[in-house]
Amino acid sequence: MDSFKGQAKDRYAFWETQPVAQFTEGSEPAEDGPIDKPKTVQDVRQEPYSLPDSFEWCVCDLTDDAVAHEVYELLSNNYVEDDDAMFRFNYSAAFLKWCLLCPGHKLEWLVGVRVKTSRKLVGFISAVPASIRVNAGRVPMVEINFLCVHKKLRSKRLAPVLIKEITRRVNRTDIWQAAYTAGVLLPKPVATCRYYHRSLNPRKLIDVGFSRLAPRMTMARTIKLYKLPDIPVTPGLREARPEDAPKIAELLNSQLGRYKLTQHFNAEEVAHWFQNIDNVINALVVEDPDSPGSLTDVVSFYTLPSSILGHPQHTELKAAYLYYTASTATPLKQLVNDAMAVAAARGYDVFNALDLMQNESFLKELKFGMGDGQLHYYLYNWRLGGGHSLQPGDVGLVLM
Ligand SMILES: CC(C)(COP(=O)(O)OP(=O)(O)OC[C@H]1O[C@@H](n2cnc3c(N)ncnc32)[C@H](O)[C@@H]1OP(=O)(O)O)[C@@H](O)C(=O)NCCC(=O)NCCS
Repeated sequence: MDSFKGQAKDRYAFWETQPVAQFTEGSEPAEDGPIDKPKTVQDVRQEPYSLPDSFEWCVCDLTDDAVAHEVYELLSNNYVEDDDAMFRFNYSAAFLKWCLLCPGHKLEWLVGVRVKTSRKLVGFISAVPASIRVNAGRVPMVEINFLCVHKKLRSKRLAPVLIKEITRRVNRTDIWQAAYTAGVLLPKPVATCRYYHRSLNPRKLIDVGFSRLAPRMTMARTIKLYKLPDIPVTPGLREARPEDAPKIAELLNSQLGRYKLTQHFNAEEVAHWFQNIDNVINALVVEDPDSPGSLTDVVSFYTLPSSILGHPQHTELKAAYLYYTASTATPLKQLVNDAMAVAAARGYDVFNALDLMQNESFLKELKFGMGDGQLHYYLYNWRLGGGHSLQPGDVGLVLM
C-alpha cells in the first residue's frame, strides 16, 4: 500500500506466513471475509507449540493476587516504552484484572512463559472475547493484548511462538478472528490513528520532558491556559451505576452504529466495561434532569499511568485515556471537557485521546496537542473488501 512505502520492512518473516492482509497484495476479493479457508476445531493442533528447552507455558490466573502481581511486574519492567525510553506503560494489577477478567474471559487465554528452573515469568500474551462489527457484519473475535517478552530475551523469535500459541488456544474454541493494535507497522493495518494529549498538569509535564513550554509562553500563562472548571458543568452528570447497563448499552450501540469497525456491547459487558473503579476506569452518564431515569450521554476514561524513567523527582505520569463516548443531548465537546475536569480534580497529569470516532471535532478546541506516535489497528484472518483501509473517523473501537 502506497501510504506505507518507506515505512514497512522489506520482509516480515513471521507475518508473511500468517492470514493477515499483506503489503504486497494485488487484487483482493471485493467482499469482506476470512483470509484462511474455513477450518473446524478438529483441524486445530491439540498440543501447545514448542518453546525453547529452558521455558514452559503457564496459565496466568489473574484471580490469584500473587500471579496478578507477577504479570504486573513483567509488564511494568518490560512493556511498551516511548522511542526515547523516557516513559514506560505501567498498567496496574487492578487494571489488568479489570481488563482481562471480563465477561467471557478464559484463563487459558492468559498465556505466560516461565523459565523452567526459576519459574520466573518472562513472557505474556492475552486474549479476551469481543463481538466486533466490521462494516455490516458482526464477527465473534478476540482482542489480543499485552504481548510482552522480557528485555533479556528479545529478538529470539519468542513473540511468534506466543502469537501462534494464543491463536491455537482461541481457534480451539471455534473463534477464528482477532483484533489488535500496535505502534509498530506490521502487515497490514486496517486503520491508523494518532494519539492526542491534553495537559492537565502542565508544570509537571514540562518538568518531566513530556511537553515543552511553548515559545513566548510563561509557566504562569501555560497553567492558566489549561485550567479546567473545578466541577463538571453538565446538569445531571453522574457516575454510571450497575443498573444503568441496559440503557448505556442501547445508547452506545446505537451511536457506535456510525462506525465501520467497532465493538458491540451487551448489557453484561457494559456493566463490566462501564463501571467506576478508582484509578482503573471511570464511566459517567448524563441523566436528564427533566426526565429522571432517562440517560442521554456517556463519557468514560481509563487510567494508564506511565513510569517516568530516570527522573530525579517524579516517578509516575498519571494519564487518563478517553474510552467510549455517546452523546445525544450534551455536545461531545462539553462531555469530554467535563470528563477532563473530573480527571484534573483527581490529580491526573494528562488526558489522552485518539483521533477516532468523532474525536476530531473537539481535539483542537479542547487544547489537545498531536502526539508523535501512531496506533495501527489490525485484524487477524479478516480482510476488508478490496483491501481498503479505514479512516480514523471510521473507527469506533478502543483497545486498552
Ligand atoms: C513486542 C515483543 C514481544 C516482540 O518480541 P521481540 O523479542 O522483540 O521479537 P521476536 O524476535 O520474538 O519476534 C519478532 C517478530 O515479532 C513481530 N512483532 C514485533 N512486535 C510486535 C507486535 N507488537 N505485535 C505483533 N508482532 C510483533 C516482529 O515484526 C517480528 O516478526 P516479523 O519477522 O514477521 O517481522 C517485545 O519487543 C516486547 O515485549 N516489547 C515491549 C512490549 C511491546 O511493545 N509489546 C507489544 C505491544 S503492541
